[in-house]
Parts: sequence; C-alpha cells; structure tokens
Amino acid sequence: MYRTHHCNALRPEHIGQTVTLVGWVNTVRDHHGVIFVDLRDREGVTQCVFRTEENSAAAGESHELRAEDVVQVTGRVSERPEIEGKSTVNASIATGEIEIVVTGLTVLNKSEVLPFQLDKDQLGEDLRLKYRYLDLRRPRMARNLRMRHLVAKAARDFLDEQGFLEIETPILSKSTPEGARDFLVPSRLNPGKFYALPQAPQQYKQLLMVAGVERYFQIARCFRDEDLRADRQPEFTQIDIEASFITEEDIFALIEGMLARVFKAARGVEIPVPFERITWREAMDRYGSDKPERRCGMEFVDLGEVFKDSTFKVFRGALDNGGVVKALNAKGFACVTTGQINRLTEIAQEAGAKGLAYIKVENGEWKSPIVKFFSDAEKAALTEKLAIEEGDLILFGADKWINVCNVLGRIRLEVASVQELLKDDPRLDFLWVTEFPLLDHDSEEDKWNAVHHPFTRPVAGDLALLENEATFDQIRAVAYDVVLNGCEIGGGSLRIHEPDLQSKMFGILGVDEEHQASMFGHLLSAFRFGAPPHGGIALGFDRLVMLICGEDSIRDVIAFPKNNKGQEVMNGCPAEVDFKQLRELYVKSTVQEKKPVQS
Ligand code: AMO
Ligand code: AMP
Repeated sequence: MYRTHHCNALRPEHIGQTVTLVGWVNTVRDHHGVIFVDLRDREGVTQCVFRTEENSAAAGESHELRAEDVVQVTGRVSERPEIEGKSTVNASIATGEIEIVVTGLTVLNKSEVLPFQLDKDQLGEDLRLKYRYLDLRRPRMARNLRMRHLVAKAARDFLDEQGFLEIETPILSKSTPEGARDFLVPSRLNPGKFYALPQAPQQYKQLLMVAGVERYFQIARCFRDEDLRADRQPEFTQIDIEASFITEEDIFALIEGMLARVFKAARGVEIPVPFERITWREAMDRYGSDKPERRCGMEFVDLGEVFKDSTFKVFRGALDNGGVVKALNAKGFACVTTGQINRLTEIAQEAGAKGLAYIKVENGEWKSPIVKFFSDAEKAALTEKLAIEEGDLILFGADKWINVCNVLGRIRLEVASVQELLKDDPRLDFLWVTEFPLLDHDSEEDKWNAVHHPFTRPVAGDLALLENEATFDQIRAVAYDVVLNGCEIGGGSLRIHEPDLQSKMFGILGVDEEHQASMFGHLLSAFRFGAPPHGGIALGFDRLVMLICGEDSIRDVIAFPKNNKGQEVMNGCPAEVDFKQLRELYVKSTVQEKKPVQS
C-alpha cells in the first residue's frame, strides 16, 4: 500500500495517528536546519516536518529534497505548534491546522530542475505545451481537467435519466459537409481511397433515428481542418444529441435542463430557465451578431426616420438605396483617443464599411466631422433616440442592412473590450437564437450554401419560397443556437426526413443527382424506409467547459491541445513519415514540388 491518506485528507481529528502519504515535493523550506516540505498530490498539500530527533537518517536525507521529487513519507499527524506565542496554523490550506512529523522517508523518484516554475503565471504557451505534463500539474490546470470530468458526468447522467442511449459512431468515415475542410486518412487496403474524419456525427445520428433508436447522445470527437482561434481546435468534442418525434420546444427544454444540471454540478449555481429567445433577424438587428453578448448594452438604434430627408449624402444615399442608418451609443467613451478611433475605423473597414462616422459629446459640444450636415431637428431626434448625454460617443453605420449589422456588431464588441465593460462580470447570460436563415449566397462562386448544414429543415410556412431562387434568402430554418455570454456553445436543428425534400435541398446546394447518389445515397435511401421526424443539437463541450472554468481559450481545458498552427508541440506532430509508409498507402507527398526552387 503506497498511502493511507491523500494530501488533503488530514484534519485535527487525525492528530496522533500514524499515516503514510505520497506525492510530489511542492516546496522545501529550511528553518534553522529543520526541513519543511509541502507534499502535494492531486487532492491538495500537507506540510511535513523532518526533525532529527524523530529519524536522523530521514532528516539528513530531507536536505537533499528538491521541488517535484516524488516521495513517500510516514509520520505522526501533529497539531501545529505555537512558536513564540504565535500560532503556526496556515488558514490558506485545508490541512493547515496539522502537520506530519516524519518518521520515515522513501524517495520514489528524483526530478531534474524544471524548465519553468509551476507557480509562475505568465508562461509562454509553447513552453507550456511542450511540457504539458508539467503544465497540467499546476492547480489551475488540474482544476480544469477535473471540471471537464464533472461536466461530462453531469451531462451523461442527465441524458441517461432522460432515456438517451450513448452510442459511438465511426471515426474512420466519409466526409460530412459541416462547412470546414476534412482531415483525410488514406486506406492501405483500398488503394487511392480515403476515409474522412468526421466533422460531426451528423449523418450517423440521423441514421440511428431511422434505425429506431429514438434518443441518442455521444460525447463525440469531431475533426475540422479550419483556421484556429482561441475557441477553435482541429479536434474538439461535442455533446451530440439527436431524438425522434421531438419538437423544437422539447429540445430547448432538454438542453436547458442539461445545462442547469451541469452548472449546478460544476459551479454550484442555479441558472434561471427557460432561457430567453431571440430570432436571428432580431439578434442581428439589435446586436449585429448571431451570438449576441448582451451584457455590454449598446443596442443599435435605427435612424432611418431621422435621416430620410437628410442632406448628408452618406446617410441619405444608403437609405435611398434601400439600406439603413443605425448607430450605437458608447456611453462615457467621448474620451476615445485618435488612435482608438482610427483602430475602430479600420475594424469597420475590415468588416466591409467605407467609413465610420462618429460624434463625441464633450463640454456640451458635438465634435464630429459630419455634424455640420445635420439640421436642428435631426440633432434633436438623435439626442432623444440615442439618449445622448455629456461624455458619450456615438458611432454610425450606413449601408445595406446586413452590412451595417455586421460592421456595428464588430465595433460594439471592440468598444466593450477597450472600455473593459465585461471585465470580471460574473453574470451568465444564456440565450436561444432561433430561426436562422436556411441558405446563404456565396457571391464569389455564385452558389447557395446551407447556413447550418444541408439536413436542416426549412420553417413549414417558408417551404413555398424554395420554388424560386429570388426568395431563397428569405427562407428561415428550424435551426437554433444556444449562446452563453456571446459565445456559441451549441447549435442544432430539426431535420429533413422526407427523401424528396432532402434531394431538392441538395439540388439547391448544387449537388446534382449523380453526386447525390454517390455522396448521400445511403441517407436518401434510408429516408425511403420510414424515417421518423427527428432533430437534435450539438454542444461545444470544450467551449462550455472553458466558460465554466472562466478560461479565455479552449486549449486550457483540453489535456493535450494543438497550438494555433495545429501542431502538438510536445511530440512534434504532425510529423514527416517514412517514404515506405507512404508507399504502402499509395500516397505521394508533393510538398517538395511546391517549395520555391533555390538557385
Ligand atoms: P456545429 O457545427 O454548429 O453543429 O457545431 C456544434 C458546436 O460545436 C462547437 N464547435 C467547436 N468547438 C471547438 N472547436 C471547433 N473547431 C468547433 N466547431 C464547432 C460550437 C458549436 O456550437 N452536426 C451539427 C449539430 C446538429 O445539427 O445537431 C454541428 O456540428 O460550440
Ligand atoms: P465622406 O463623405 O465619405 O468623407 O464620409 C464622411 C464621414 O462618414 C466619415 O467620417 C466617414 O468615415 C463616414 N462614413 C462614410 N461611409 C460611411 C458608412 N457607410 N457608414 C458610416 N459612416 C460612414
């Protein structure tokens, strides 16, 4: 037996017992020749004292102990003594009332000097990822891993109680269009053919509905070859759910119940359910985002009425062309610097605007390059509609509706970030965004794409709009996202279960009949054998855990994540492979050919 207790177990009631602990040397302190070791295991820390009178050999050896050595100590649980009338109790650790007076020491393994100190906060990420096994020893990271486990367990227990079966689906699979690039795996047994790693188990879970499973879930690994960000990894995990004979309302209630259970288990908080709902159109119109961060205010105000006869040609022109003029009031931000205004303008331009008109309200005056174009009536209307006060900064967008929404949406988040409006804000703002558009036009390639995925059901009342390309962009889908504090933590939809409608949908997306047969024949065929109405959702498990842990990056809640170049720094993958391995797979790398020729 290696130990009798873990390092967070001993309390005053254990005083007098002889115990054995194992763990890592967290710190070593030498007080006038007496060595104090804080011994750490995954549960906590216990102070161990090496006194010569107890065991002189162990006390002697304790002078050689270094941080992160692995040791086993045996000793007596003792009360922490008073020294010179002062208590030595350490209230900041759970075991702070006791210490172990060591009678025996076994060094199980020595540690070399670490490449970084575990208690250092500001570490370069590549260094942390290179020595991830050390990084994970840090209490914050250990807590994150534990939290991830708790969240998974709470979700699993909840779904089990609701009658969902956990079923695994293949990783070596066929490409499913979820909008990203596929990772491909060559097949040795089928020369020239490739598996695709699943971007999500979408088709399999629908086929399980045809199979009569009725309620499926999976904590599923997904693979997407896309550009990485703080909240995106090339392989990530979803809590993937699908059910038959289910309505949108049922799915909302299910997910609200699951999230309530998860937050209770992981954070001990009750979250208010049901969540508010907002349509996609309204989310864009008011916040310029399909995942609105509502906690920072600054809702957009429509100024079409105010400027319909304006002499300012930028606003008037936008309105005359069927567009909109909108503004937001950044309260108290009239102190914005020229540099900040330039940066905001740059962001607006990156998002497709020609410029970013603004008004600073300072010393009772409107400071702005455009205010000279405004009539008194326009100024009065602006003041009223935007509740303009001393110290405000008003930012305008004028263009087509969707462009203005996108531009001001970016501006709004930038202002919130510069003004630190959300710093240390403890609120949890859950929200359903509903009625996403079904289709999105790609003007570069002149083709229609599915906003969610090709299996998503159009709103029943909009089915007639499928008959005419001119109305495609007005079709709403029975698709919904669940958003927490401006982060999309999940998305799903009711599905098409009729083979004809599904085939028509593929057609609209530019998949002709031949390709429908080769790519989706199995699904279309399954739908001909009594497919039940069904729908589902997938929650981004890593994002959910990230938000629960209060982290800014999903990398901090994944044991072995990839860096922003998709590499695992620790083992150096992706890595080159032998020519022989490639030949067995009938694969030839062209990377040499692509390198520029060196003269
Ligand atoms: P979707 O593509 O919206 O839906 O994905 C669902 C959720 O997964 C998370 N997510 C990611 N997390 C980390 N890294 C990524 N690269 C990444 N991509 C997505 C997001 C997102 O909300 N099959 C459908 C679900 C359905 O229709 O049931 C799907 O995958 O939090
Ligand atoms: P201009 O007349 O083009 O010099 O623009 C006058 C002001 O309006 C400048 O501050 C521009 O940044 C701003 N502006 C130009 N186009 C737009 C637009 N589409 N939306 C909002 N502001 C704009």
